Amino acid sequence: MLFFFIPVPLLLLMGGAGSSSTSSSSSSWASSTSSTRVSSTSSTKTTSGSAQASSTGPVPTASGNPYSGKSVWNSEYYASEVYAAAAMVTDTALKAKISKVASIPTFTWFDTMAKVADLPGYLRAAGSSILQIVVYDLPNRDCHANASNGELLYANNGAALYQQYIDGITAAIKASSGSTVVAVIEPDSLANLVTNLSDSRCSSVQDQYKASVVYALKTLATAGVYMYIDAGHAGWLGWPANISPAATMFTQIFKSAGSSPFIRGLATNVANYNALTAASPDPVTQGNNNYDETHYINALGPMLASSGWNAQFIVDQGRSGKQNIRSAWGNWCNIKNAGFGLRPTTSTGNSYIDAIVWIKPGGECDGTSNTSAVRYDSMCGGPDAKVPAPEAGQWFQAYFVDLVTNANPAF
Ligand code: BGC
Repeated sequence: MLFFFIPVPLLLLMGGAGSSSTSSSSSSWASSTSSTRVSSTSSTKTTSGSAQASSTGPVPTASGNPYSGKSVWNSEYYASEVYAAAAMVTDTALKAKISKVASIPTFTWFDTMAKVADLPGYLRAAGSSILQIVVYDLPNRDCHANASNGELLYANNGAALYQQYIDGITAAIKASSGSTVVAVIEPDSLANLVTNLSDSRCSSVQDQYKASVVYALKTLATAGVYMYIDAGHAGWLGWPANISPAATMFTQIFKSAGSSPFIRGLATNVANYNALTAASPDPVTQGNNNYDETHYINALGPMLASSGWNAQFIVDQGRSGKQNIRSAWGNWCNIKNAGFGLRPTTSTGNSYIDAIVWIKPGGECDGTSNTSAVRYDSMCGGPDAKVPAPEAGQWFQAYFVDLVTNANPAF
């Protein structure tokens, strides 16, 4: 994943934004665990890629902030990773801290078509609680980086396969009456179209990216999925040269997808490290008055509204506990000394923000540091990156331990 771009002239400008105080409270929603076990053998529902997305039920009605008054299911998959991490640790104080992480809801990423087969089990386990998922299998994925290049290619029937992937997710959700699903749509994809069209890997697929994302939005809306399209972060689309084109593009996508109220808004800071509200600007943010996610959202929200989309936001704070840890704002891969951040909550102190959430499961890697790997990205071997690191999505125990140790608020 990731990316970003600073217009070079802006690096020369000085930022003048002042500090502001933290507006979010530390109160969090109840997380929900269920005694229902996910079992691949007990499922009677299938999610084959050829499932018909529009086969069952009336289109549900959207009802505002999906997080309002609801508990959030605590991802079994992530919890199992965290328990395995705890088992590797002998220090009892650290073990106790780790066990607390296991009860914090994170998003479950569907980064391959094969994983869609797990969705019915997750839906059953989540029951009436919110199931949080990331839709992340776009063809030619991660077009401006290498670390998270995916399994599908447009040149290899990717558009049709992606539709099958979306149809499979949609069919599973329709078959599970009563579930509330919140989905983050395709991290980094549209943001790359704002800033990285000079890279032919992005420009060559720009129309296809948009068509696939619109297909996902339209189709998932028929199952009543509440969607937040990924919108990069303050240090990417928050720059003065980028924010207005970004707002225009996001509103166009919203409208192209039928302006469904289930397309609730945008997700920011996914897998990044920015503060919701920085005590003072990190020196590396110089030149961008939108030096934290609050400034970025407060600037982007009105632009979207004036172009015709009253978008709401969710903000990833999973790895944002420690600030001023980068030598350049654009560094994104396994940043050393990061810590778990603000806990998920609907007490956001900002009417644009539906919820603070943990989207990147902390401890899962951003990309390998093995220089001979096909998906090696130089960002993952850069000065701020912790090494040695396994492949993107794989468990990175040493990184996880750092996140726990550096957590702010502390465990
Ligand atoms: C990886 C995915 C993984 C996700 C969450 C991405 O960087 O490419 O495979 O599911 O992070 O950890």
